Amino acid sequence: MKKLRLGIIGYGFMGQWHNNHAGTLEEVEIVAICDTDPEKRAEAPENVKMYTDYKALLADSDVEWVMISVPNHLHHDIAIDAAKAKKNIIVEKPCALNVQEFDEMYQAAKDNGVLFTVDQNRRWDRDYCTVKKVLEQNSIGKVFMVKSSHYGVFGRMHDWHEYPECGGGMLYDWGVHLIDQMLDLIPGKITQISADMKCAVNKSVDDYFRILLYFDNGLAAEIELGTFLLKKLPRWYVAGDTGTLVVENIKADEGAIYRAKEFREALPKTVKNIDAGPTRTFSVKAEDVVSTEPLPEIHRKHNDWNDFFRNIVGVINGTEELIVKPEQVRRVLQVMELARKSAALRKSVDFE
Ligand SMILES: NC(=O)c1ccc[n+]([C@@H]2O[C@H](COP(=O)([O-])OP(=O)(O)OC[C@H]3O[C@@H](n4cnc5c(N)ncnc54)[C@H](O)[C@@H]3O)[C@@H](O)[C@H]2O)c1
Repeated sequence: MKKLRLGIIGYGFMGQWHNNHAGTLEEVEIVAICDTDPEKRAEAPENVKMYTDYKALLADSDVEWVMISVPNHLHHDIAIDAAKAKKNIIVEKPCALNVQEFDEMYQAAKDNGVLFTVDQNRRWDRDYCTVKKVLEQNSIGKVFMVKSSHYGVFGRMHDWHEYPECGGGMLYDWGVHLIDQMLDLIPGKITQISADMKCAVNKSVDDYFRILLYFDNGLAAEIELGTFLLKKLPRWYVAGDTGTLVVENIKADEGAIYRAKEFREALPKTVKNIDAGPTRTFSVKAEDVVSTEPLPEIHRKHNDWNDFFRNIVGVINGTEELIVKPEQVRRVLQVMELARKSAALRKSVDFE
């Protein structure tokens, strides 16, 4: 088995995460680390070659792949230099600040015959895998609405995430994950994108967005994120014509599939006066007609973000196809650009 011989460029939070997780896999060897900050370099293991300049790491022939885990605005130039140095490339998300940057990076990879992928690790999150399984198994019938929400209570951004010129803000940070999941989940073309985006409690970078994606298969999907929304909604709320799926959190240890016990048979014959006023449709109490089922089990061999790296090892050894494909990464970046455009114009924009 050929190993993934990796050099990590940027040994901050995520670079260290990769060393401490992917680096423990038998099939991954961390051969070099680079960081410009001496304090970060001091945190690296002693048996790994250390560099202060990423170009020196790129010149190291032991390095076959690079993980580019520096702040977002630095991905583009380092990826192009890595391609020219004939290194296969993994870029942290968001791959690039815009589609043009992505095109230049991917073109450089193609020109130099190296592989190119992006750490969209949240495709392996338990909540997302649960939703995907329910949809693949057709467990709630024909799906007509998907809502993905992620709320925080702290409000403020930290470090370089506070600066627009560094690729700060939440669309680049979490938005890219949430959009990537949604596009991976729902087949079909997106016809329109409608978005709202705000600097709600931060001065210069977005910390709230709501994006509506209209698909040509009739489905509408909503993605909402806020760093200062003090009462959470479920992480996923998905409605089909035979049931409703709720996944409360990312661990997917709370949630259920809701089904009508007497589907559409239980409507009262006459109008009833309830708290909401006189109504028939809304007079039926959920506890009288709705049953719940537990979320399906996700049976996976590993069930962790290292599966992203295991996939790359599979690609190197010719046993697997690349899961996070450059074309998918580009489409996500297109959606992000159009979401910003829609938010600025205050109207929907066409896509695909
Ligand atoms: N996939 C995920 O779940 C996930 C999670 C967090 C962050 N990220 C991504 O990882 C990347 C890094 O984020 P982070 O949170 O680790 O940031 P960080 O600030 O903790 O680390 C970045 C590191 O890069 C170093 N650096 C800066 N310029 C450099 C250069 N020219 N050469 C070498 N090193 C340099 C800094 O000294 C720092 O140690 C970002 O793109 C971010 O979006 C991904």
